[in-house]
Amino acid sequence: MPDTITSEQPTAVDTLLIERPIPPCNIVIFGATGDLTHRKLIPALFSLDAQGLLPDHLKITGFARREFSDHSFRDELKASVQEYAPDLWKEAEASWIKFAKRVVFHRSDFDNAQGFTWLKERLDRFDQTEGTLGNRLYYLATPPSTYTTVVQQLGKAGLVRGGTDKDSDGFTRIIVEKPFGSDLASARALNAELKQVFDEEQIYRIDHYLGKETVQNIFVFRFANLLFEPLWNCKYVDNVQVTVAETVGVEQRAGYFDHAGELRDMVQSHALQMLALIAMEPPNTLSASDIRDEKAKVLRAITPVVGSGCNDCVVRGQYGAGQLGGKDVPSYRDEPNVPADSVTDSFVALKLEIKNWRWAGVPFYIRAGKRMPERVTEVNIIFKDIPQVLLATETDDTAEPNVITIRVQPNEGISMRLGAKPPGQKTVVRAVDMNFTYGTSFGQRIHDAYERLIMDALLGDAALFTRDDEVEAEWGLITPILEHWAANPAPELPNYPAGTWGPDAADKMVTDSGRKWWNR
Ligand code: BG6
Repeated sequence: MPDTITSEQPTAVDTLLIERPIPPCNIVIFGATGDLTHRKLIPALFSLDAQGLLPDHLKITGFARREFSDHSFRDELKASVQEYAPDLWKEAEASWIKFAKRVVFHRSDFDNAQGFTWLKERLDRFDQTEGTLGNRLYYLATPPSTYTTVVQQLGKAGLVRGGTDKDSDGFTRIIVEKPFGSDLASARALNAELKQVFDEEQIYRIDHYLGKETVQNIFVFRFANLLFEPLWNCKYVDNVQVTVAETVGVEQRAGYFDHAGELRDMVQSHALQMLALIAMEPPNTLSASDIRDEKAKVLRAITPVVGSGCNDCVVRGQYGAGQLGGKDVPSYRDEPNVPADSVTDSFVALKLEIKNWRWAGVPFYIRAGKRMPERVTEVNIIFKDIPQVLLATETDDTAEPNVITIRVQPNEGISMRLGAKPPGQKTVVRAVDMNFTYGTSFGQRIHDAYERLIMDALLGDAALFTRDDEVEAEWGLITPILEHWAANPAPELPNYPAGTWGPDAADKMVTDSGRKWWNR
């Protein structure tokens, strides 16, 4: 029997289905007073705990430079959960005291060897008193400039078991946040530095988009339905579009974003990972290595856009003042801490080609931007036109192509655009949508990506984390574009008003070949 639509109300604390229990562990969060810890990591851990998924023997140590007692740190975290995850708080407040007891604060500078020695003593003691069994999960939620220091200190303090000793007396793993490097050379250097202390299987590079249900559903949708696979190739697909549009601007993050820009921030990781899931070959099994082999393979098959090729296949943009949701919003250059002459990209559109048998000749368009008219992340698979010989639309002489839209957020789901006959005497075609939405079909809250990813790292499943070769393949595509931009003056900036779909050149890149961006 197929699953029927349920009217059950989603709740904040639905249980994630897992087959294996999470093992006891000492989690150490470096950068424990930072934004990521407060907005994402602690709410995710608290939610896992409230669902009964964390084992009794699990401790969380917040490591940071600022001065806190365990109590004052717990109070800060509580305020963050209340602020950033109000639904979770409403439902799970009663679980807070138990969760808070797991948390301790460890004050130290990152370059202070003694602080790490004391950390080791503390964690070893927890192994004895709290039953954490020697298992360690480190989370690098610090600015990337400190990654190497922290990793080296961990190594020197004997906090990492490596080589053949890796899993004796417990596992050691490290989650590394993005940005992972700022170009190919720095990503390679970071990989090398990490691997002086950790083995590749111990390194979990996070791309939180892979933790999103709907991104994982790209995989299931493709490989659990016979309907689509025969059409999933250059014979039937005309073009593929990945859109990652945000309404937010740079907000208070100029310190990071003005150096990064949208190409690094959103395309190198999130957009290319989604593209890889759309375009990869079926893996042999669901193991982390088989899935990542296929993703890395297809990323390597993308032809890098280099030199003057960028003029035709890359558009960079930066927003000017405009309107969003009926309100005036400032230009990028007028945002706090952005230099008045900044040429940082807040929008980028790309046309990529995958040189393999499946996809030869099919353009893959990516566009990512801040201050777009709506927040939407989706992938559109646009099929070739049907022969326009038999049927016309009511208003035009061409019928629309079939389109599959995988909606990652918001209104998570999948829709298919089909041609149907409207009632009446005339045999003509009207475009209609067939929709599946998570909310109505599953009647469950969609869990935050970090819950899933932290759980997977605790369970030792790296399938939803990026491997060294994938990250390097991504940077191999991004770096020549960055180099071209550095060597060539930016277009006149700003070149799109906030609240629009980016510069005209982004439309032209697509319309030049008789196509269009798929905006619903
Ligand atoms: C982050 C980027 O990785 O993803 C941010 O650094 C961006 O700039 C964010 O806003 C978007 O994530 P989400 O989950 O809100 O789509």
